[in-house]
Amino acid sequence: MRDAENVTVRLADYQPPTYSIDDIALVFSLDADATLVAARSQVRRRGEAVAPLALDGKRLDLQSISIDGVVLDGSAYSVDPEKLIIHAPPANFRLELVTRISPAANTALEGLYMSSNRFCTQCEAEGFRAITYFLDRPDVLARYAVRIEADKANYPTLLSNGNLTESGDMEGGRHYAIWVDPHPKPSYLFALCAGKYESIHDQFATKSGRNVALGIYVDPGDGERARYAMDSLKRAMKWDEDTFKREYDLDLFNIVAVRDFNFGAMENKGLNVFNSSLILADAETATDADFEAIEAVVGHEYFHNWTGNRITCRDWFQLCLKEGLTVFREQEFCADQRSRPVQRIKDVKRLRARQFGEDAGPLAHPVRPSSYQKIDNFYTATVYEKGGEVIRMLKRIVGEDAFARGMQLYFERRDGTASTVEDFIACFAESSGQDLSQFMRWYEQAGTPAVKSRGRYDEKTGLYELTVSQHIAPTPGQAKKTPPPIPLWLSFIAKDGARIAAKLEGDTISRIEHHLVLVNEETTFRFNDVLEAPIPALLHSFSAPVTLDDGLSIEERLAQMAHDPDPFTRWEAGQAIAREIMLSDAKAHAPALAIALGRELDRAQEDPAFAALALRLPDLNELILASPSPDPEKLHAARESLRKTIAAAHRVRLEAIAGAPGELPFSPSADAAGRRALKSAALDLLASLGAEAAGVFSDAYQNATSMTEAAAALDALGQSNSEAFDDALEQFYQRWRENPLVIDKWFAVQAASPRRDALARVRRLREHPDFNIRNPNRVRALAASFAMRNPRAFHAADGSGYRFLADLAQAIDPLNPALAARLLTPFESWKRFDEQRQQHAKSALEQLKALPELSKNTREVVERTLA
Ligand code: BES
Ligand code: ZN
Repeated sequence: MRDAENVTVRLADYQPPTYSIDDIALVFSLDADATLVAARSQVRRRGEAVAPLALDGKRLDLQSISIDGVVLDGSAYSVDPEKLIIHAPPANFRLELVTRISPAANTALEGLYMSSNRFCTQCEAEGFRAITYFLDRPDVLARYAVRIEADKANYPTLLSNGNLTESGDMEGGRHYAIWVDPHPKPSYLFALCAGKYESIHDQFATKSGRNVALGIYVDPGDGERARYAMDSLKRAMKWDEDTFKREYDLDLFNIVAVRDFNFGAMENKGLNVFNSSLILADAETATDADFEAIEAVVGHEYFHNWTGNRITCRDWFQLCLKEGLTVFREQEFCADQRSRPVQRIKDVKRLRARQFGEDAGPLAHPVRPSSYQKIDNFYTATVYEKGGEVIRMLKRIVGEDAFARGMQLYFERRDGTASTVEDFIACFAESSGQDLSQFMRWYEQAGTPAVKSRGRYDEKTGLYELTVSQHIAPTPGQAKKTPPPIPLWLSFIAKDGARIAAKLEGDTISRIEHHLVLVNEETTFRFNDVLEAPIPALLHSFSAPVTLDDGLSIEERLAQMAHDPDPFTRWEAGQAIAREIMLSDAKAHAPALAIALGRELDRAQEDPAFAALALRLPDLNELILASPSPDPEKLHAARESLRKTIAAAHRVRLEAIAGAPGELPFSPSADAAGRRALKSAALDLLASLGAEAAGVFSDAYQNATSMTEAAAALDALGQSNSEAFDDALEQFYQRWRENPLVIDKWFAVQAASPRRDALARVRRLREHPDFNIRNPNRVRALAASFAMRNPRAFHAADGSGYRFLADLAQAIDPLNPALAARLLTPFESWKRFDEQRQQHAKSALEQLKALPELSKNTREVVERTLA
């Protein structure tokens, strides 16, 4: 079905709703093909004058409508599948609607749909309107009472938000349950799940002594695999009490795992819905990265209960108010659960891999966009990752104390409201006494600031002058930028690694750590009493989401790698040397980097997770982004050559690490995961040696005692040109064919394999009987792994990679527009490439644009990418 014409929604046009709905009672008569939804809303006009009430709908079929018990005359309203307008309703009334929907026919996975014979919902952002006509906007908060009726044999468990108040049997083998959520909420937080589940249960005693019953509902047979998610949930609840003084506010907290889900997870009040991939884990079927992601996402969705649910967004432009803040909270949680520096480096890697490219291309937009066509397209790395960084900078600029007080002020003052970014920032202006108006530029301007710094040291006077400048390149719709305040966490070391204290001009004492803020386009910071030529590190812990050109020499970076007290700076120094070698053909420095990484191996036992990160060179996507005229083939070759130099230099030690027996019994702890990460990094480096090292990989595969080890070995085999890859794949498939999450890994490792035949393999996999275009996990395992983790094949000079992705998106679009639109984001880099590649990318995108039936979601992404 063709969507309505593309309309642009603008932040500047925001109007408060003319009506409120304070209470809604819903009755669901569940049936896969024809579900009846009766909605009784208490509606209240907010203004004086009589005004029409316009309710949102999507693919709805209205069965009946009445006001205060009287069936409405046909002339009193107009209705179509997308809108219900009541022309002149009273000021206060009871609206009763019955709509009919078909969950089984819903392939978009938005609204009420079926997944493995179970009912489930996804309402964020605008899915509730696919259930009943409603004021489907986040600033309309209502109390929900939900009665669910269904066949008891097929759907024994009936869940919704809030507390279960009543349940019982009905005639004809049906039964019912009534759920009441006492907390007013926006419609996007509504949820309903019904079906046959296995569940695990636990409880959590809150600080004030209330008992919360916890439940996780999964496919029958999967219960034990949900234990780590349950453990993560309890740790998250405790952490939010300890860190932010936030307690949970219902007697019940449930999570349901769903096999067919467009996103990672969803924070519905009291009833989170999760992609199964982010709930189910055990040693044999999940990697350490999976365990880590489960902890992070369970935390994230739980933390939304305060940042998102109790305090929600006034409108969807404020999405970062809940998402950026919750990403920040989630990152802090993970840092406290594991290693803070390792967490920080991983977060920076993710930001660079996903957000910097977005900010540098045609889809660039501010953390708070000012217009959109489909809000689904704005759940982006910028809103999430950069949105999280903005909160981190706020904390750095106002200081820890004022940040903590500002958060408490926000929780107290804004509780129960639909708020804006301004409401949030006002709390920190108040707690710190600072004027934060310049800080708002971080929310308003797109683009990654490029920071440049140059130092000058005068031996005679002991004066060190550091000139720092910033610039943001134009982005779509924003030609001119004004400088945002950039926190610089700065310190100095000497060549031999000694820390150097310095007295900032105007300061009374020397310090070894300087917390500066660059507020102008250019500033020269002057330091006195500097006893030796300093090597500056400007972005301790990556204090701002910027790129940095600090002009340091390789020798200076080697000194940082060896000695800087900040782990992020040590890691970054190695990455910077590697980038320089690969991008400017500074091959002569490769042996020096190899020696420096040898030292990381020497001290790897102290912090194996850190060493593992140090051993991984910047990936091809990062090089493509950093290169003015990227040639993926050349960059790949440069990267492989450097990897080979390093691997050859340390071959014996790497093989010993890679061949070490797995630890039993398995533990998902950060320490054990760190040791496995080092093993995986060793395998990955050895893969650069090609088929000659394949024996090591086959052995590692055969001896693996965990999925982490098996997957790393398989990945290394996929990089080497050994036939052993296909043997291992066959073995893997036979062993795991009944486990969809593991088979997703089987698809992904092949799609990401940088072999010459990558595209042929991916094409074959698309025809594989286990490929399923309706299952988002499977689609992403194939297509996103290919387009994002296999850049050389995706950006093939003949355009074959581009065509593959566009064809697949075209096939998915009629079924699931949100998924199709998201699949196309790897096209965001197309303008960076040579003429020939650009032509191919453009024609692939134009082929989509020409489709008259293309969804609104996909059309917006295609048009903005082409513009
Ligand atoms: N509120 C989102 C879920 C969501 C995403 C709804 C996109 C509608 C559109 C949820 O809190 C979320 O952010 N989920 C992330 C995972 C998270 C840990 C970053 C997701 O689903 O990717
Ligand atoms: Zn979220």
